[in-house]
Amino acid sequence: MRASSTSLRSKDLLGIETLIPEEIALILDTAEGFKEVSERHVKKVPALRGQLVINLFMEASTRTRVSFEIAEKRLSADTLNFSSSGSSVEKGETLIDTADNLVAMQPNMIVMRHKHPGSARMLAERYPNISIINGGDGSHEHPTQALLDAFTMRERLGRLNGVNVTIVGDIKYSRVVRSNIHLLTKMNANVTLAAPPTLMPVEIDKLGVRVVHSLDEAIEGADVVMMLRIQLERQGKLSFPSLREYYNTFGLTRERLRRAKKGVLVMHPGPMNRGVEIASDVADDPNYSVILEQVTNGVAVRMAVLYLLGGAHSTES
Ligand code: CP
Repeated sequence: MRASSTSLRSKDLLGIETLIPEEIALILDTAEGFKEVSERHVKKVPALRGQLVINLFMEASTRTRVSFEIAEKRLSADTLNFSSSGSSVEKGETLIDTADNLVAMQPNMIVMRHKHPGSARMLAERYPNISIINGGDGSHEHPTQALLDAFTMRERLGRLNGVNVTIVGDIKYSRVVRSNIHLLTKMNANVTLAAPPTLMPVEIDKLGVRVVHSLDEAIEGADVVMMLRIQLERQGKLSFPSLREYYNTFGLTRERLRRAKKGVLVMHPGPMNRGVEIASDVADDPNYSVILEQVTNGVAVRMAVLYLLGGAHSTES
């Protein structure tokens, strides 16, 4: 699908669940243009000149935080990075008080990551004149990750419609899988989920996905195999007997990958636990792995989101 609309309906990007297919297509099409900007010698356009974007990261991040910052710089925005570490959050200041103080400095947009599901929505409702972009809220949603995953699939396979996508691993605690399910089903891809029963939420099949508990069955006929990290920080304790047993039953190896379609794409949002959910020789094999392409595409997709929420909006007003 190509975009038929030219703007997003909301001032915020809080999740994929509330987007319509035309908006997803618009973001992906816009990102194609910004990917070309990133390939130029001078990687900068003036779209967000004079706008202040605050990256409010209260949970650890490498890819999302860095690629948003690069995206903002490529759009000529002024950027400010805020993390809990070294801030007055360490003295007990709350998210709301922290955000109120940052908003008093008049940003145009806030990109945020926080461990609490719904935290991005809370700020979006509190600040009607500021665009909030969710960079991951607990195990709820991670919309720009799903958008960059979709961009990578569409670029490599030429379409999303009818593509067989298998997602394997910590389905229960992953915000990436929730955003991907919403996006891929809206774009008519076929989604299969595979995980041990303890990591598979009950009734997730109601979201229009196929659920299996065998990796071999899940991989059969897949165009894309997306491996997820085991979220030890959210599980509290292991949801299976040992990491070794997990690797033996759900770890992606070269041998297991033979069941997939020829030309299968191996994806992972990162960070990877090598030797737990994925073997290193699969993760690093350029014949399969598009894991670093996902990272490259993340900058273009985040430029598109920032532009559509900030640049395009301010041009029209
Ligand atoms: N994929 C992802 O969100 O990675 P980071 O946690 O490093 O941002």
